[in-house]
Amino acid sequence: MLAARMDDRLESGMSDAVADGASTAQGKSMEELVSLCKRRGFIYPASEIYGGLNGFWDYGPLGVQLKKNLADRWWRDMTLTPPTRDGEAVKIVGVDSSIIQNPRVWEASGHVGGFSDPMVDCTETKFRYRADHLICLGEKGDTSGQIYVHVEDDDESYAAARKKLDKYKKRSLGDDEIDTCPFVSLSAEERAIAVGPHAKAPGTLTEPRAFNLMFQTYVGATASEDDKAYLRPETAQGIFINFGNVVDTSRVRVPFGIAQIGKAFRNEVTPRNFIFRSREFEQMEMEFFCHADDAKQWLDYWVEQRKRWWMSVGLSEDNMIVRKHDDDELAHYSKNGAGTYDIEYRWPFTHPGFGELEGIAHRSNFDLSQHKEHSKKKLEYFDQERNERYLPDVIEPAAGLTRGVLALLCEAFTPDDSRASKVVMKFEPSLAPIKAAVYPLVNKDGMPEVAEKLVTELRRRFGHTGLIEFDAKQSIGKRYARMDEAGCPVCFTIDGDTMSDQTVTYRDRDTLAQDRIAIDQVPNWLGDKLGA
Ligand code: GAP
Repeated sequence: MLAARMDDRLESGMSDAVADGASTAQGKSMEELVSLCKRRGFIYPASEIYGGLNGFWDYGPLGVQLKKNLADRWWRDMTLTPPTRDGEAVKIVGVDSSIIQNPRVWEASGHVGGFSDPMVDCTETKFRYRADHLICLGEKGDTSGQIYVHVEDDDESYAAARKKLDKYKKRSLGDDEIDTCPFVSLSAEERAIAVGPHAKAPGTLTEPRAFNLMFQTYVGATASEDDKAYLRPETAQGIFINFGNVVDTSRVRVPFGIAQIGKAFRNEVTPRNFIFRSREFEQMEMEFFCHADDAKQWLDYWVEQRKRWWMSVGLSEDNMIVRKHDDDELAHYSKNGAGTYDIEYRWPFTHPGFGELEGIAHRSNFDLSQHKEHSKKKLEYFDQERNERYLPDVIEPAAGLTRGVLALLCEAFTPDDSRASKVVMKFEPSLAPIKAAVYPLVNKDGMPEVAEKLVTELRRRFGHTGLIEFDAKQSIGKRYARMDEAGCPVCFTIDGDTMSDQTVTYRDRDTLAQDRIAIDQVPNWLGDKLGA
């Protein structure tokens, strides 16, 4: 569904999440992926028992562990063991700032005035559309005839618009007889004869209005205008407003970075494609402060580092591109900078094209200078080496954590008709939510006890990296099939031979190889497999 209903309730559960992007690419179907995520406990629609809430999602036992593993990896690789440059570790420290800040933060950052999408409502159907996603169709040269509107990239609404136009003209128009134009360029007179994508009558689409994407709330009991506050639409500003605190309280010297992982909220007009664009999501952002003269070099450095990092968590190079923003795409804070790059992923719903996974922007010193001006506080940094006082420039690698989880899910999703599960989730083992399963072949003859002892040992050693599964019920084939869907890299089975020769069978998720190893070698063997 491309239009979000104004009452914002999901009308048909999970199918809404993918109806506009349920394409099949490389055998990867979003509909099947969404269904697996529900079935195996990765991701559920939020408030499902009340009909859901469009743009909100809950993470189940496997989803929360996968998300945590990705976040932990980012935190480790950014703050604990950061990358090096010219042989020296890059300095990055962490913060965790409030979701709700003084609303003046968002005035200074430009979000109160400018963080909006143009939006159009249909008074007949109550559908809401992003104005810049609407395209008009009409007969060439006919300036007074009706105009039919469809949603860009939505074949179904295009076909409906063509059908209505043909019906109005009482004949089938050829492609060369059709004129198209963006809805946003229509005059008021033309809007009066435009028929909305899901409407019957003309003139039901409103003039585009700026729709601020920030969620509002009130702090305190009185709920007056003065108490208005916002849920943060990005984690970045919580970093900028603490720049002075961090410089004063830790021994950092420019160039250095401040990293943060946390929730962000945007009242997106059209949340869609599962967790790709949701209204509540998580970001992993790092603001890297450097001298303006070095900004270009650091931008190139971080673009390269970030692409390599996504490969290290299992995304294949073939499914990623780095794209430089055109000048007219640049955000206001990036206008005077060295540019912005997006790392884009080949999602099933963009295939064969790509869509944003992470942005890496040169924000110049826009944010610090805005906060300096609005707060009237001195935020300049004194650089002892250069003997110079300045507001540092910023390079910002800004990644979506939840969008990253979606990329891991899409990459891992591998249809395989030869398996009982018909699909296997090939997560990079160190990111997999379940690290190993230990199964007694049958639930008797001392096998469960041996299995439980091994589980305890594996949990002690690997429990901080993910789950160790134990299950003594069902046929072994069914238990393996469940682990294939969960993306568990290896299963260990305790059988009759274990009791006599102290060996177990391991089954490899990807190769399906099965072999025996000594039970006391299992922890080290698994450690090698997980790189742990
Ligand atoms: N501080 C800069 C900033 O927030 P952004 O490109 O708007 O930049 C950064 O967001 C990343 O956050 C995006 O690349 C994307 O991965 C993720 N993101 C943004 N909006 C999102 C949404 N509505 N749902 C899920 N992830 C989103």
